[in-house]
Amino acid sequence: MGSRKKIALIGAGQIGGTMALLCGQRNLGDVVLVDIMEGVAKGKALDLQQTRGVLGFDVDVTGGGTGDYGLIRGADVCIVTAGVPRKPGMSRDDLLKVNLEAITKVAHGIRQHAPNAFVIVVTNPLDSMVYAMYRITGFPKNRVVGMAGVLDTARFQHFVAEAAGCSPQDVVGTVLGGHGDDMVPLVRHCSVSGVPLRQVLDQAKIDAIVERTRKGGGEIVALLGTGSAFYAPAAAAVAMAESYLRDQKRTFPCSALLDGPYGVKGLFVGVPVVIGAGGVERIVELELDDAERAMLTRSVESVRRSVAETKL
Ligand code: NAI
Ligand code: 2OP
Repeated sequence: MGSRKKIALIGAGQIGGTMALLCGQRNLGDVVLVDIMEGVAKGKALDLQQTRGVLGFDVDVTGGGTGDYGLIRGADVCIVTAGVPRKPGMSRDDLLKVNLEAITKVAHGIRQHAPNAFVIVVTNPLDSMVYAMYRITGFPKNRVVGMAGVLDTARFQHFVAEAAGCSPQDVVGTVLGGHGDDMVPLVRHCSVSGVPLRQVLDQAKIDAIVERTRKGGGEIVALLGTGSAFYAPAAAAVAMAESYLRDQKRTFPCSALLDGPYGVKGLFVGVPVVIGAGGVERIVELELDDAERAMLTRSVESVRRSVAETKL
């Protein structure tokens, strides 16, 4: 066995393929793409191998079918996008039944072949699919996490930067709660180069940005006509994987199992967490005012309803 890390991307669709490219370019580790559509996984892997000479990276990208999931054996990180994306007019929760079937199969595969992996779930409806992954693998809570808040926050940053005429890199902000239309962009905690957002933009502009962030996924679904966003989701999930693999200890809003923080018990909900070599090493509890807490409670109730539908 070599000393390179191994990253299993389960689901070789739009997000899976993009993540493979990003992992390669960042030399994060050898990548294996796995999909029920074996030819798609193999074809994308071969295409990506052929970018290496041009882009200048050395890690391997291989691909194959789900079969017995043996291809993921010994993976350090598994990022799961297996399932189907939304079509125009669908909510993320409309995907629950079909994607729960996919997640169930994938979770058994991970449990058998990659029992020590850090698992990042991307499949929607996100907060109930990551809950299902946690329950079915039986992995400890620090090794199962959902990607949504990094994406939702990146959208928020982009809209603020656009309105303020600044770089998104200078916008500090975070979005809490479930990955649904009642997610909670935290306006009070947002700043532009250290200046509170409310001093940078007027309330009407801020309200419009909050609303557009909440509906950010749907906006792209409607534009694409088929499928959902994939570049930003892929970048977000790879940033989380990188923080784990390189022990960066970055703080990201992620869907993590709460057993008390924010007054929530037994649910995966988006909150700021520190990701390092220990997986989810710490949950950061922000001080919320009454209005923020009420919005978070509303979002948590949506997550609770979605989780109840999994019957797990
Ligand atoms: P896609 O349709 O391009 O790719 C999904 C792939 O999963 C397909 O190639 C399909 O054949 C494969 N698949 C289905 N069942 C499988 C199984 N049991 N094992 C392995 N592979 C399987 O979809 P895309 O755009 O990559 O999105 C993937 C998921 O991510 C969707 O559920 C989408 O809603 C979700 N998503 C979540 C976001 C988030 O912030 N959490 C953001 C954007 C998308
Ligand atoms: C998104 O937010 C659809 O969850 C997906 O783009």
